[in-house]
Amino acid sequence: MSPSPTKRIAQAITDEPASSSTAAVFIEPDHHGSDPVPSSTVHVIKEVGLVGKSGPNYMAAPLDNNAIPSNSCEGKNDTLLYKDGSDRNNRRNIVSEIGISKDMCPFRRNGASGFSSSSTAEEVTYGIDGSGLTAIVTGYNFAPFTTITGASSGIGSETARVLAMRGVHVVMGIRNMAAGNKIKETIIKEIPKAKVDAMELDLSSLASVRKFASEFTSSGRPLNILINNAGIMMPPFKLSKDNIELQFATNYLGHFLLTHMLLDTMKKTARETKREGRIVNVSSEAHRLPYNEGIRFDKINDQQGYDRWGAYGQSKLANVLHANELTRRLKEDGAEITANSLHPGLITTNLFRHFGVFEGFVSSLGQLVLKNVPQGASTNCYVALHPELKGISGEYFSDNNLDKASAMAADRNLARKLWEFSLDLINK
Ligand SMILES: NC(=O)c1ccc[n+]([C@@H]2O[C@H](COP(=O)([O-])OP(=O)(O)OC[C@H]3O[C@@H](n4cnc5c(N)ncnc54)[C@H](OP(=O)(O)O)[C@@H]3O)[C@@H](O)[C@H]2O)c1
Repeated sequence: MSPSPTKRIAQAITDEPASSSTAAVFIEPDHHGSDPVPSSTVHVIKEVGLVGKSGPNYMAAPLDNNAIPSNSCEGKNDTLLYKDGSDRNNRRNIVSEIGISKDMCPFRRNGASGFSSSSTAEEVTYGIDGSGLTAIVTGYNFAPFTTITGASSGIGSETARVLAMRGVHVVMGIRNMAAGNKIKETIIKEIPKAKVDAMELDLSSLASVRKFASEFTSSGRPLNILINNAGIMMPPFKLSKDNIELQFATNYLGHFLLTHMLLDTMKKTARETKREGRIVNVSSEAHRLPYNEGIRFDKINDQQGYDRWGAYGQSKLANVLHANELTRRLKEDGAEITANSLHPGLITTNLFRHFGVFEGFVSSLGQLVLKNVPQGASTNCYVALHPELKGISGEYFSDNNLDKASAMAADRNLARKLWEFSLDLINK
């Protein structure tokens, strides 16, 4: 019986000297860390150069033609590339971590970071030690039937799970505490050493945000990472408890207040630990499609002119402007904290619940063509944790790579105006 593809790949890596060539096979770590995976899919990257100079370390080794499984995306005669994790010299160790994830070849083009749209959260944080760090991540739900991890359909839970797997102490800001406790249980069952806590947080209520932030601050915990992830998309018009249009209130203003209230703790932590703090605003490509005027300062709560798309775009534009303005202010203060925004991709989650026909598409065909949750959570984890991004602030990311936000998102005056407007709203 011939050895399994994984075993043959392992042999190729361990027995042959490293070399480079013009084409490469890239193998992702499996979500479960299991190996071997006989029905594996191996991704083929056309050019080794696509891995990029500044990307994570890779090693190349010649690969026996037969080692490419028959269901691989593209040709043969390629060179095997694999992630060089924490132990560059111990090839066998690295091989044992190699597994395969399901993916679609057409979407897989690695950018300068060495990662692509189909990289998973585990993959982009592979080999990173997050122990000693504390993170707050907002936005969870518990839908045990959906994902590979079995934990949730939202990217917040996968973000928390993977950060915890890397040793980060994760505090979940969640409005449904029963779901929070289930997510915590699920993570700890899988990763017994995980440090995870759930604290109640309703981002659409300024009082709830204040309560969460003051309880967190008075607990005396440090805070290195804040991931502003919770969100709603395109509900019918509704006002929050504070009489603010619900998408703006939840997606943006609640996170603005949360960040504002936690900033001193983050600054203190960065100073005392000499480790860079990171604020990550989960925006969307929809930030390119706000109302014509971008932010409707004078009619933020206007039901007459309410447009679900425009209001979602407005809130996501606000997420990017917030990170940019924060960057300017943090630099002025000399604080060792970065603030970036990102688009996580189009992912099959509950976010589409208000989407009518499209929701049907997401839960059926979408499973085939959109990102899955481990892929959807990857940019959150990459921007929050990857050492390559040290000192990078005020940038917009998508698919685990630097991207360019819209011209409106780069408007400094708009960002400043939004900041002042937000201060007024939270101080009312
Ligand atoms: N999925 C995509 O294709 C996509 C694309 C671009 C951007 N994004 C962004 O990615 C982020 C995560 O979305 P997702 O796809 O993971 O959606 P999701 O599965 O719906 O998760 C969003 C989470 O936010 C929570 N949330 C909503 N309102 C809240 C509130 N007032 N207080 C506290 N938590 C609240 C929800 O909790 P409940 O379960 O309690 O409602 C939900 O668990 C969002 O900011 C979204 O805009 C997603």
